[in-house]
Amino acid sequence: MTITVNGRDYPVHEAQGEMRLIQFIREDLDLTGVKNACDIGACGACTLLVDEQPMRICTTRVKDVAGHRVLTIEGLRGDGGGLHPLQQAFIDAGAIQCGFCTPGMVLTAHALLLHHARPSRAEIRRAIYTNLCRCTGYQQIVDAIEAAAVCYEQIPHGIPETLNPRP
Ligand code: FES
Ligand code: FES
Repeated sequence: MTITVNGRDYPVHEAQGEMRLIQFIREDLDLTGVKNACDIGACGACTLLVDEQPMRICTTRVKDVAGHRVLTIEGLRGDGGGLHPLQQAFIDAGAIQCGFCTPGMVLTAHALLLHHARPSRAEIRRAIYTNLCRCTGYQQIVDAIEAAAVCYEQIPHGIPETLNPRP
């Protein structure tokens, strides 16, 4: 079987298929942006996008995403490989302290904005409701997502070149 991570296909043998996806992503692929915290699917720190939808991967097996497109925080890039506008918005709004929740929070927000370019603050809060942040406070996070939404407004269908993950 094969899984596609950040645009690149990875063949997966049978034993790897039974691994937890978070272990495979962090240890086998060395993509350590995704965080492991509660380990029971409750906090959102391990959120990735699978086919542009948020998924918590601490309770997911590799084989569960075979044939699907996985996006990690490492695959989210802006123009010229720099910071994605959503990442920059988190910095500008002071929406990061320890950063442990940030990859999952950013990817959850990315999924929201891909499908809903002008969400209200209430809709933003609903989208990140189950992504827990213990130190920043949610006000700045909502501010960041609201500010970044303008970058997604020009998307008629799908993801424009500048918002595409780099393979
Ligand atoms: S580490 Fe997966 S939801 Fe908390
Ligand atoms: S920035 Fe520390 S948990 Fe959110």
